[in-house]
Amino acid sequence: MFFLTPVLVAVLCILVVWIFKNADRNIQRKKGEPGARTKSRAWVDEDLRDSTYLHQAEEDADEWQESEENVEHIPFSHTRYPEKEMTKRSQEFYELLNKRRSVRFISNEQIPMEVIDNVIKAAGTAPSGAHTEPWTFVVVKDPDVKHEIRKIVEEEEEINYMKRMGHRWVTDLKKLRTNWIKDYLDSAPVLILIFKQVHGFAANGKKTVHYYNEISVSIACGILLAALQIVKTVPKELVLISLLNLQ
Ligand SMILES: Cc1cc2nc3c(=O)[nH]c(=O)nc-3n(C[C@H](O)[C@H](O)[C@H](O)COP(=O)(O)O)c2cc1C
Repeated sequence: MFFLTPVLVAVLCILVVWIFKNADRNIQRKKGEPGARTKSRAWVDEDLRDSTYLHQAEEDADEWQESEENVEHIPFSHTRYPEKEMTKRSQEFYELLNKRRSVRFISNEQIPMEVIDNVIKAAGTAPSGAHTEPWTFVVVKDPDVKHEIRKIVEEEEEINYMKRMGHRWVTDLKKLRTNWIKDYLDSAPVLILIFKQVHGFAANGKKTVHYYNEISVSIACGILLAALQIVKTVPKELVLISLLNLQ
């Protein structure tokens, strides 16, 4: 009997481990079943929470449009530079971008609309998830509209600083001497509002999925900043407000 007890305990332990392992495997399998809400997808990064409406698109399939298969591709062409030229160009580009600064004082000097159009067109060359180009750029010049925008932004920013961000974030920002007052939203002659489109619409009115919409719009913002830097307007005449949701 004394000999049997340790053997019995060992067998029981093995049995318990086996039961737990199997239960875990079953849960994993259920998660992988078609239609499961939490199905993991390589192109939807849960950490980034980029709000790609993929699960919803699959659940309400009749409301969503499949993308066309036979579309013409844009031709690709490029120039090859000798090594010396490559080094020179990359150095110059780095030096140009290294002069970019985020400033909170803006000149009221006017800027040609053609320049604004061009920098937005440059931003629109950005790569995007499944080439969905999920962005909308809105140029605002009207002083009353700018002022209304300022009021909305300041109201939200005050809540951010006072409630949403919390002590650590507000403390970390102290060195930048920023706050929720944004008088440059009135003084800048042009505001560029950038919206992310969380989904699109096909010609027949059905919704289309915008994969990685937030990341795609962020890349477009980066290109916009680089384009502004090349015309040297970022610190002087333009304010990039923020990414806003366009539902
Ligand atoms: C995602 C993101 C959010 C930012 N938010 C703010 C902001 O709310 N207010 C602000 O004044 N600057 C903001 N900035 C600007 C940063 O403070 C700035 O990029 C940083 O201090 C580095 O300075 P630099 O842009 O001159 O290199 C933001 C920048 C990024 C990329």
